[in-house]
Amino acid sequence: MTARRTPPKSFHVKSFGCQMNVYDGERMAEMLAGQGMTQAGADSADIVVLNTCHIREKAAEKVYSDIGRLARREGGPRPMIAVAGCVAQAEGGEIVRRAPQVDIVVGPQAYHRLPAMVAQAADGRRALDTDMPADSKFDALPGRGRQSRPTAFLTVQEGCDKFCTYCVVPYTRGAEISRPWAAIVDEAKALVDGGAREISLLGQNVNAWAGADETGRVQGLDGLIRALDRLPGLQRIRYTTSHPNDMTQGLIDAHADVPKLMPFLHLPVQSGSDRILKAMNRSHDTASYLAVIARVRAARPDIAVSGDFIVGFPGETDADFEATLDLVRATGYAQAYSFKYSPRAGTPAATMTDQIAPDLMDERLQRLQALINEQQQAFNHATVGRRTDILLERTGKLPGQLIGKSPWLQSVHVIDPSAAIGDLVEVEIVQAGPNSLTGRLSQPLARLRERDRLA
Ligand code: SAH
Ligand code: SF4
Ligand code: F3S
Repeated sequence: MTARRTPPKSFHVKSFGCQMNVYDGERMAEMLAGQGMTQAGADSADIVVLNTCHIREKAAEKVYSDIGRLARREGGPRPMIAVAGCVAQAEGGEIVRRAPQVDIVVGPQAYHRLPAMVAQAADGRRALDTDMPADSKFDALPGRGRQSRPTAFLTVQEGCDKFCTYCVVPYTRGAEISRPWAAIVDEAKALVDGGAREISLLGQNVNAWAGADETGRVQGLDGLIRALDRLPGLQRIRYTTSHPNDMTQGLIDAHADVPKLMPFLHLPVQSGSDRILKAMNRSHDTASYLAVIARVRAARPDIAVSGDFIVGFPGETDADFEATLDLVRATGYAQAYSFKYSPRAGTPAATMTDQIAPDLMDERLQRLQALINEQQQAFNHATVGRRTDILLERTGKLPGQLIGKSPWLQSVHVIDPSAAIGDLVEVEIVQAGPNSLTGRLSQPLARLRERDRLA
């Protein structure tokens, strides 16, 4: 039992972790707004939802310092505190034992019940729900409304059955499921009607998505992408994250012939050592990974390839690590994420012998990141002088500056008084930095706007 309080009138949702968590955070915000609450900052909202990530220890621990900060908030009563997301799922009631200030604990598959839980907490009864119900939360969520940005996320697949030995996702997100075709197409239409120009299809293993289309024919992700390509008003389609083993020829072919599908592929590999990949239970090896990359590049030569790496997995030798550097050299990444291995309770790798010393992990991470940065710079420099479309997403730091994304997901800065957020503009890339590019508008906007209208 906690104290009874006035029901919250304003909310703040703070999301950590992957894009699927960002999507969930948006859906929770829409639900709370649907209850008549207004959006506010973390320092003033009546309820703060911490939408957490459990993937690495650092991410998971962050929630406790945030709870402490909220509980000590000055200048008014402390907010109602809800812990959502993957830490909520993994730790459940343990969170309340460690942080009794928490009013609500809600897992990633149960957050459609958040409004009822808020009412319960306002009534003075702490609410905890980490069910993974058979009925989908998606059916219970309200429809999508006006979008605040031209780029939107759309979760199409959830959960994971792959059980890589280091990873918590199969436990926090549950079994692999694909949302039905019609629900996805309807949501995509609503997003476009609400102003979205680009949709990123999301899933922990998004390229494992499968479902029957409106005629009953079973389709893969490529079929869904082809259907969305026909949506008037939608300009760009992306998808993430893919597993190397689920990269079908159909999806690879889509990169050759679906105009709205952007030339970008995030394909995590984790390690370049077959021995380590086996210990990780990755179910692919370096040769099969490189073969997939070669097939994708044959279909779409300019594709930007991205990846994820873990350094310091238990038992990783110098030779294993060198093999990872070799794989990076052989692939040539446009960008990539790399992490130090973090042991997660309940996963098989956490109890493996031969855990790697932190210093060695640091050193390996630095070497890997230096190589990835070099490749990213080379990729960015290669686009200088090129003409390309960018979709303007937000304002920059300089007066009049707008930031958009290239087809290859690079940030491009432009200053042009005639341009506005939501415009798809053609630019010439005039300069490349390590993390962003500078572009100059190369076509009168009126013509581009006309083209958008006809698309
Ligand atoms: N489903 C995706 C990504 C899952 S999590 C995939 O299979 O690739 C995102 C990334 O976090 C992973 O690709 C991996 O690089 C990293 N990661 C997952 N568990 C980790 C752990 N225990 N320690 C360090 N990094 C981890
Ligand atoms: Fe985690 Fe592996 Fe599943 Fe990706 S494929 S979510 S890394 S278990
Ligand atoms: Fe983190 Fe959960 Fe995503 S653990 S990476 S928020 S699926």
